[in-house]
Amino acid sequence: MNAQTSCVVHDPLDVFEARRCLGRVVRDLGFGRIEGAELAIVVTELAWNILKHGVRGRIDIRAIESSTRRQGVEVVARDEGPGFVDLRSALIDGCDDRGPIDPSRMVARRGLASGLGAVVRFTDSLAVEDDPGGKRIVVTRYRRR
Ligand SMILES: Nc1ncnc2c1ncn2[C@@H]1O[C@H](COP(=O)(O)OP(=O)(O)OP(=O)(O)O)[C@@H](O)[C@H]1O
Ligand SMILES: [Mg+2]
Repeated sequence: MNAQTSCVVHDPLDVFEARRCLGRVVRDLGFGRIEGAELAIVVTELAWNILKHGVRGRIDIRAIESSTRRQGVEVVARDEGPGFVDLRSALIDGCDDRGPIDPSRMVARRGLASGLGAVVRFTDSLAVEDDPGGKRIVVTRYRRR
């Protein structure tokens, strides 16, 4: 049973390894294909964000259970980069952590700034906390019944 796993995120190949780790956990927990695919997007976006904005870090994934005994997954993305200027802005599609992005910059920046928006849509909770040497983003997702 892969109830807990972690991987470093230092280069792009590590993003695929993080997805693979997630896949093992959700399979063992019996998550459905769609739930697993949504969580794979969550892990992928958090891992790319580590490389893009947080320099380097790690992803920890573990099985959790709610107070009502629903099974779920917690994903913790730690990195060494700067904190969010404005988290609420960063969670909105088309915005970075300072506000709306000029559409003419979208191609050059190679991203629509919708990664964290997807993370919010596919999870039940998201929190950003201080971590020694940086910060951590903690998300949870419970099985639908
Ligand atoms: N790990 C992080 N550390 C610091 N800032 C971050 C981190 N992740 C995201 N951000 C900030 O939040 C904003 C929104 O993140 P989001 O993932 O939605 O978009 P993006 O990474 O800019 O573009 P995309 O994900 O579409 O390629 C980023 O532009 C950045 O300002
Ligand atoms: Mg992103």
